Amino acid sequence: MGLEIRLLTARDTEAYWHLRLEALEREPKSFGESAGEHRLSTPESATERLTTNPEDNFVFGALLDGDLAGMAGFFRYTIAKERHKGKIWGVYVREDCRGKGIGRALLAALLEKIKACPGVEQVSLTVAAGQSAARALYVSLGFKTYGLEPGGMKVGDEYLDNEHMMLKI
Ligand SMILES: CC(C)(COP(=O)(O)OP(=O)(O)OC[C@H]1O[C@@H](n2cnc3c(N)ncnc32)[C@H](O)[C@@H]1OP(=O)(O)O)[C@@H](O)C(=O)NCCC(=O)NCCS
Repeated sequence: MGLEIRLLTARDTEAYWHLRLEALEREPKSFGESAGEHRLSTPESATERLTTNPEDNFVFGALLDGDLAGMAGFFRYTIAKERHKGKIWGVYVREDCRGKGIGRALLAALLEKIKACPGVEQVSLTVAAGQSAARALYVSLGFKTYGLEPGGMKVGDEYLDNEHMMLKI
């Protein structure tokens, strides 16, 4: 397989928007945003997400033979007392592409770029209860749990606990 891991740019807007929709439709228990909310978002807002403050805010994509098969994003907090921190979001690999090292490659690229952000000292993420593959990946990268939020997410009538993890870099 021809795997390319690279930063997504404005030119990737359409593929990014569709992959994000797929993630939210297929894995509603993994993400805070709903598919309905994403469907209401404009292509302009997706472009903005990929291009605003590119030093502190970026999304890596995994392209398999040219097609976007996975993604992982990062943003840095903007207020002065929190600029030493950032958050990883939107980690997703297409179901038929999983188990081949793509998720690990995406996180490796993301963490390498985060480490190159001057002044960023720690990064957090949230994983919902039951997402064992994602959790195992984060633990293997050194993320530690700092909090458990009972019922932190409500999907339909189901309450899911959120696990908050962080990595000092
Ligand atoms: C989490 C996810 C991105 C992993 O992507 P992937 O390409 O399959 O991951 P990789 O093949 O690179 O595997 C990386 C690690 O994940 C863990 N992992 C992957 N599949 C696993 C499984 N079925 N069971 C348990 N752990 C698993 C392992 O620790 C693995 O490391 P190893 O290969 O050294 O054993 C993917 O499963 C996914 O998109 N899941 C649904 C969305 C989601 O939960 N996103 C996270 C939101 S916080």
